[in-house]
Amino acid sequence: MSSYQTINYELQDNNIALLTINRPDKLNALNSDVLNELSAAISETESNESVKALIITGAGEKAFVAGADIKELSNLDAETGEKLSMRGQEIFASIENCSKPVVAVVNGYALGGGAELAMACHIRIATSNAVFGLPEVSLGLIPGYGGTQRLTHLVGKAKAFEFVLTGKQIKADEALRIGLVNKVSENNAIDEAKDLLGIIMKKGPVAVSKAISAINASFGDDGYKKEAELFGSLCETEDFREGTSAFLEKRKAEFKGR
Ligand code: CAA
Repeated sequence: MSSYQTINYELQDNNIALLTINRPDKLNALNSDVLNELSAAISETESNESVKALIITGAGEKAFVAGADIKELSNLDAETGEKLSMRGQEIFASIENCSKPVVAVVNGYALGGGAELAMACHIRIATSNAVFGLPEVSLGLIPGYGGTQRLTHLVGKAKAFEFVLTGKQIKADEALRIGLVNKVSENNAIDEAKDLLGIIMKKGPVAVSKAISAINASFGDDGYKKEAELFGSLCETEDFREGTSAFLEKRKAEFKGR
């Protein structure tokens, strides 16, 4: 297994790889190094025949992933913003389309890009302290790593409007109630993910990978392009500059609507 700087990627018992996003002091926020290493680890998952399934989680007690790295975002313009969104979408699509089953163990904050990462996985198990939300509008932005699409697919249009337009955060029990997660862990979420993957891995591997493709084929791709375009265009607004500066300066944003 390759070694990485911002993630841990290890082969566990039973041919399951455990990928841990490892920037706990920044609540595992996704900067470009994490995205690049995440992408490489997904390719490794596909190509390494010893790996039969993948679990993705976050380091530390507090967060799965608290979103894209806002410090990096604050420097974007329309072109680089759209490009970043497309890059994130591409990596998350490689997770969603992975031919081996992928389970997210959501162990704390899963906000913005973190919720989007969890939603790109095939199955989600939340710990009882998990918190989900797409708070991008608070930054003068929209979700850019597929969140406007996958949230709508998972919970329907009504809830997607409510969450994306308000940026509200919900706890694990509500996430379970609305179908955003498959299970709230009662004990050790990683062990529960391994047990679930153990069941899947006893089935025909070719059938499992075709089932993943078939389920993914039920949704179209146009919305992702639109999301990336809009994400990029927002990166040039005053509201976005104000929203990201306010977060970094630890104050409330004052939006002007332009
Ligand atoms: N990007 C960069 N740094 C982040 C971060 C992020 N998304 N989330 C947290 N951090 C950093 C904080 O700046 C802080 O760093 P310092 O110690 O250097 O100041 C550290 O992680 C700990 O965070 P807090 O002190 O804020 O912890 P808290 O317990 O008070 O709050 C939180 C936790 C509610 C999750 C809060 O950190 C927060 O609101 N984070 C941002 C969430 C967010 O807006 N995510 C969406 C990002 S945009 C996006 O993801 C776009 C997209 O779709 C592609």
